[in-house]
Amino acid sequence: MHITAIVLAAGKGSRMQSEIPKQYMSIDGKPVLYYSLKAFEESLVDDIILVTSEDSVSYCKNEIVEKYDICKVKAIIAGGEERYLSVKKGLMSADKADYVLIHDAARPCLTMDIIKRSIEEVQITGACTVGVPVKDTIKLVDDDCFGLDTPPRNRLWQIQTPQSFLYRDILEAYRILEASGDTDITDDTMIIERYLDKKVKVIQGDYCNIKITTTEDLSVVENFFKKNEKSC
Ligand code: CTP
Ligand code: MG
Repeated sequence: MHITAIVLAAGKGSRMQSEIPKQYMSIDGKPVLYYSLKAFEESLVDDIILVTSEDSVSYCKNEIVEKYDICKVKAIIAGGEERYLSVKKGLMSADKADYVLIHDAARPCLTMDIIKRSIEEVQITGACTVGVPVKDTIKLVDDDCFGLDTPPRNRLWQIQTPQSFLYRDILEAYRILEASGDTDITDDTMIIERYLDKKVKVIQGDYCNIKITTTEDLSVVENFFKKNEKSC
């Protein structure tokens, strides 16, 4: 059973409006990307494919993968313009995999527990994602921002990564996506649901497993690390 983690770090981080992309910003002396690579390094995954921008490949190799001895990284490859295009490239490099765990480098609070439970679940269901029940009421609004609907809160989950799949299924779903020409893709679970008509199991993630998107998220993660010494 071969399990590959695909770590996505090819984004520009435009909402962060920082000089360097958010995945390379420093938290507690190390780049954001380091933390999820380290978590996968210490987990049961067999290898890691790191997807980054073309001009960051050598920085990642020298300043992160080699510097911190992340031995499971078997390839560092250039991603695409959109997240799903970066995933596609990662999948093409993961041809040994039976299962893949696709993870946002912008989520540095990934835990061993999340990885372990994702691996266990994907071997049962073939497709799963971590997430957390929403705490706020969520409203669907119209173009003028008037409320259209208020879905029952107990059915709503905020979806995180890793998202884990049988390799042959996610590859097939991406093949159909490519043929469809659709571009409205925000995560990989929707690709499985839309093109394979298969169900994706949502399992408990962690409220700490946030995605760094804007500056206030950075200080939240810094505080978690301080409090829990990276056990958050
Ligand atoms: N990502 C990627 N390739 C892209 C876009 C995003 O690998 N073309 C990665 C990001 O590096 C990040 C993850 O996907 O780790 C989640 O994306 P997001 O939070 O949207 O990051 P960015 O696209 O970088 O940020 P923004 O949308 O603000 O520009
Ligand atoms: Mg983005």
